[in-house]
Amino acid sequence: MRLGLGTGSTAKHFVDLLGARVKAGLDVICVATSEFTQAQALSLAIPMSTLGETPELDLTIDGADEVDSELRLIKGGGAALLREKIVASASKRMVVIADDGKLVSMLGRYPLPIEVVPFGIEVTRRAIAAAIAAAGCAGELKLRRHSDGTPLVTDGGHHIFDAHLGAIAQPEVLAAALTRVPGVVEHGLFLGLASAAILAGVDGLVCLGTIE
Ligand code: A5P
Repeated sequence: MRLGLGTGSTAKHFVDLLGARVKAGLDVICVATSEFTQAQALSLAIPMSTLGETPELDLTIDGADEVDSELRLIKGGGAALLREKIVASASKRMVVIADDGKLVSMLGRYPLPIEVVPFGIEVTRRAIAAAIAAAGCAGELKLRRHSDGTPLVTDGGHHIFDAHLGAIAQPEVLAAALTRVPGVVEHGLFLGLASAAILAGVDGLVCLGTIE
């Protein structure tokens, strides 16, 4: 099987378990969604490839910051949203693994990550603010920084604005508006990408969507 490997604390557990299965003989070839996951997978001797060599994947397993009942997601809390979205879009199926605290009735309480190129970042910030307003949302845009105050740089060499919106009534409208902003590389709304979500709670697992 050709597998996409997600990023984050939940996906990290999956990669650890996958490493144990590979050691026991499981035959897979994998593509990572971040440098962190790539290093973890290599340390576990999981066979790794690239989207250049393996542009079609059977399944991606990844975490999420929020998931709604229509399997729409907010992702990017771990700053890997760009590669995560490319890998998910190259996969026949994407299955989300998360704890059930991530299930929401409306997306937006978790700040929406928006990845931008550093060039002209103030112009891009203003255009993002206008796009958010045009999509009927409101809230502060904060440049993501390390604890020492320096702006975070993603694996792709970009920065991230976190949009503190509280609620996103029409995710498709906001996604389309953000995509039109020059300087926006990608946003953390994953719409129509996840085919299922496995959510863990104190009473066991709940599955949304179809897992084949
Ligand atoms: C990484 O950029 C994110 O999209 C993660 O998949 C998401 O933040 C979930 O991470 P946790 O499993 O650590 O909550």
